[in-house]
Amino acid sequence: MIVELKHPLVSHHLAALRDKATPPHIFREQVRRLSLLLAYEATAKLPLRPVDIETPMEKMECMQLACRLGLVPILRAGLGMSGAVHDLIPQAEVWHLGFYRDEATHQPVEYYQKFSSSPPPIAFVLDPMLATGGSACEGVAMVKEWGVQTISLLCIIAAPEGMAKVQATHPDVDIFTCAVDEHLNENAYIVPGLGDAGDRIFNTL
Ligand code: URA
Repeated sequence: MIVELKHPLVSHHLAALRDKATPPHIFREQVRRLSLLLAYEATAKLPLRPVDIETPMEKMECMQLACRLGLVPILRAGLGMSGAVHDLIPQAEVWHLGFYRDEATHQPVEYYQKFSSSPPPIAFVLDPMLATGGSACEGVAMVKEWGVQTISLLCIIAAPEGMAKVQATHPDVDIFTCAVDEHLNENAYIVPGLGDAGDRIFNTL
């Protein structure tokens, strides 16, 4: 399933995110805001369990999240998203995966992985730019191999090429995105996109 968020706040915050005049500190805030909106949508079907709560007035039954959750930001741009999603789900576990893009082949190269011996049943892979889909597919494959049963991919902007690759390779993985853009250019950057998300987040342009 592909979910493209259609909401005035998403459009509004995307405009500032895409603007090349937006400085890094505002860019980071926009990534945060859009990550919260993505996470709100992507967590809509999380399982709940009843808990007994005593309000100042009386006892009542409330609902709480029923299982462990993992956030898997793909380094480095995924780090821009993980703080916001973690604020929304403070009990989530954050596991990191590092890929860099080989500039000649545009293929993802893994350089860091930190998983435990006990995978959570549900995980959200965070990768703001779904371009070729190479690192997202590799990341999802590693999370599956780790033993996670239910995986969603959260990205701020997706290219049709990347979505098609993830859907073909991992049809069981839901993709949540704020926007589906037009295409990739010859350097595998998303057009119109926003440029290099990692460089704009970390001010390394
Ligand atoms: N990664 C980015 O940061 N931007 C793109 O357009 C593609 C991949």
